[in-house]
Amino acid sequence: MTIDLAALPHDFLWGTATSAYQIEGAVAEDGRSPSIWDTFSHTPGKTAGGDHGDVACDHYHRWREDIALMRRLGVNAYRLSIAWPRVVPGGDGPVNAKGLAFYDELIDGLLEAGITPSVTLYHWDLPQALQDRGGWPERDTASAFAEYASVVARRLGDRVTHWATLNEPLCSAWIGHLEGKMAPGLTDLTAAVRASYHLMLGHGLAARAVRAAAPGAQVGIVNNLSTIRPATDRPEDIAAARRMDGHTNRWWLDPVHGMGFPADMRELYGVELPECPGDSAAIAAPLDWLGLNYYFPQTVADDPDGPAPHARAVRRGGVPRTGMDWEIDASGIETLLMRLTDEYGARRLYVTENGSAYPDVVRPDGTVDDPERQDYLLRHLAACASAARRGAPLAGYFAWSLLDNFEWAYGYEKRFGLVHVDYATQRRTIKGTGHRYADVVRAHRSQV
Ligand code: NOJ
Repeated sequence: MTIDLAALPHDFLWGTATSAYQIEGAVAEDGRSPSIWDTFSHTPGKTAGGDHGDVACDHYHRWREDIALMRRLGVNAYRLSIAWPRVVPGGDGPVNAKGLAFYDELIDGLLEAGITPSVTLYHWDLPQALQDRGGWPERDTASAFAEYASVVARRLGDRVTHWATLNEPLCSAWIGHLEGKMAPGLTDLTAAVRASYHLMLGHGLAARAVRAAAPGAQVGIVNNLSTIRPATDRPEDIAAARRMDGHTNRWWLDPVHGMGFPADMRELYGVELPECPGDSAAIAAPLDWLGLNYYFPQTVADDPDGPAPHARAVRRGGVPRTGMDWEIDASGIETLLMRLTDEYGARRLYVTENGSAYPDVVRPDGTVDDPERQDYLLRHLAACASAARRGAPLAGYFAWSLLDNFEWAYGYEKRFGLVHVDYATQRRTIKGTGHRYADVVRAHRSQV
């Protein structure tokens, strides 16, 4: 597998990514309040094996060791998220100095190690106090988010330039409020559409707040997009694929690009958007960059009686899959990078997540051999470089994930890390893929 490394800019960010609730643990320490994920994961039946993030990778206490691991990987960037319930435990109102101090030290540690931090403000851990007041379906949550964003940017903005407002709002809205498989676990189309609207509004307000607090901030948003193909060439399936594209891709991309929420999807959902004058402009706040999280392509068929968007996923046979049972198709990442470039005029792009889970084991000699993950990584890197060669303004790639971690409703069984975590001992072991990634980073560096 050859990767056209010469197509990537000399200052390319080679990173790994994590999120707060998935790795930190220490859920009741130093004034952190519960988030909707504490509530959800402690509700019987919601996560595999009843797993939760109480301890996770204990990163809250082991972050120095984790920075040392990043140095061993040779990466020059790290995407992390800030836990809102640590910083503003009530959702709005008083700021928790100890919560902010944790991130302050972490950022300093990264910078000392020569690692550029990319900070995501919301990776799904809404303070439970705000959920108790209605959560994202309520407009006040969007303004509380902007207020919290301002607090964080005022404290860290002298050292952090890369900011993302939201991670994968699709999951918060659709999986959390429509499918019920993520916190807060609702299955209510009206709540889901309202949540999606206020997430996007929160994004716009937070982007403005970060810029006001930290001049020079580079602000973006992270979406999980997918390539969608119809299961057959029947017109019904082609229409279903178009609807799924609206649900997965256009609903999240069009409004931030000043195109409003797509009319066909508004009609399909049939839920009145809680619009107020000035919202569209706020949502379309100019962006410095777009983040793409890409994992798998989708094949869909018409499903008139199913929930919105009346399109059901079809499992294709005879194609390679990861341990998540997700189809592997590296061409999807290239297609999406080109789409963001050509259709949305992206000025700068980052692959903010990409990776694969497999059931790894530590061998008696202490190593973890994961050839399938390695293959996944290299294929996707090659596809990214190909997009860059074709003109996509790709400025960085963040492998998901630095560590094995709490994979939400799937619990700890699904391992995405470049580094294996033995949860009984918290021992970290760099997997074969981690070493391979280090080789790629080194090879790129030696070219420039
Ligand atoms: C996307 C999410 O942002 C991340 O939290 C999750 O672990 C990965 N996908 C893998 O599913």
